[in-house]
Amino acid sequence: MNNSNIDVDAAIASIARKLAAYDAEQLDKTAYPNEAKGAIWSTVPAPDWVSGFYPGALWYAYEFAKRRDWPDREQWRHRADTWTVGLAEEQFTTTNHDLGFMIMDSFGHAFRLTGEQRYKSVVLQAAQSLAKRFSPKVGLIRSWGDIDDSRNYIVIIDNMMNLELLIWASDNGGPADLKRIALDHADRSIVEFFRVDDSTYHVLDLDPATGQVKRKYTHQGMHDESCWSRGQTWAIYGYAYLYEVTGVDAYLKQSIEAAQYYLARLPEDHVPPSDFNSDLVSVEFKDSSAAALAACAFFRLSRFSSTLVDKTKYWDAAVQTLSSLVKEPYFSTSSDFASALRYQARNYHSDASHRLTNTSLIFGDYYLLEALLAYDSALNLTNANP
Ligand code: GLY
Repeated sequence: MNNSNIDVDAAIASIARKLAAYDAEQLDKTAYPNEAKGAIWSTVPAPDWVSGFYPGALWYAYEFAKRRDWPDREQWRHRADTWTVGLAEEQFTTTNHDLGFMIMDSFGHAFRLTGEQRYKSVVLQAAQSLAKRFSPKVGLIRSWGDIDDSRNYIVIIDNMMNLELLIWASDNGGPADLKRIALDHADRSIVEFFRVDDSTYHVLDLDPATGQVKRKYTHQGMHDESCWSRGQTWAIYGYAYLYEVTGVDAYLKQSIEAAQYYLARLPEDHVPPSDFNSDLVSVEFKDSSAAALAACAFFRLSRFSSTLVDKTKYWDAAVQTLSSLVKEPYFSTSSDFASALRYQARNYHSDASHRLTNTSLIFGDYYLLEALLAYDSALNLTNANP
């Protein structure tokens, strides 16, 4: 297996410098960083879907600070807590499906790393709020739109990432129903989101009264039958996570099939274009955030694979991806660029005036940190058990 020579400490220290700089200069601790073309982050308030990623990145920095015994580790905990508590009101929101991202990345990590009950109660309440967006008739959680909209019922593949909130809550004192809802969503998503070649649709619109699919289309990809690369990685990651917590083989199979589609189309540097069907494939149109997500998922798939061949395949895919992401042209140590990860894509759009590529996005740095921590954990485990 290829262990490359990724300098985890240098990469995380560099990302941490950018995270600390934002905290130092931003006095409003509820102005969450979102995207940036240059040095200055645009910000969003707590109800936005990306609000949890900055606190989440701070918790990952704290996790690493503890692991390496950084002298300023308690300062990292303080920063992470400060940016987490500003999201507390979101536990009651029922207006979107993104509570998984918002609450697990902030309060979820806070509880995992500190064990403080005040964080856990927020996660449990948020799961109850998210569950209100589930319709038994449809068998899916409604991603977008009003909870009572009787005409449209919109579900996106990204929703796979919000299931963790329900499963975690169910396994940690919340009602068993929450897990049932998550698994019903995952099961119907297998049927509806995947094409025969294992690529994914981005958006479904269903009839709320009958649960029938009315239309499948894209919002951030090139066209309705194309494969938006981040959507594909939400699916790979989502089903790998589900297998980890349920042991259900169908979820592992789904993650692997989606991963095969993705791996077969990757360019040499392991960073996909924003849409796999696009001929805009130069670095400017890539999505390194999708690559960071894929690396996180491939570390998981490597752990679960039963044969050495598969273990090696996913380990190498994860490590090659990560190696690319921590060096030029993808990694920026410069204060002229807001995020560490360059060449992230918000969306593909055939009309260039609506397209946002070659940008900073806070969630790319969040998943890059997650992948670096996963790599570091795996290496330490290997060294401990030669
Ligand atoms: N969940 C929205 C996105 O991936 O851009």
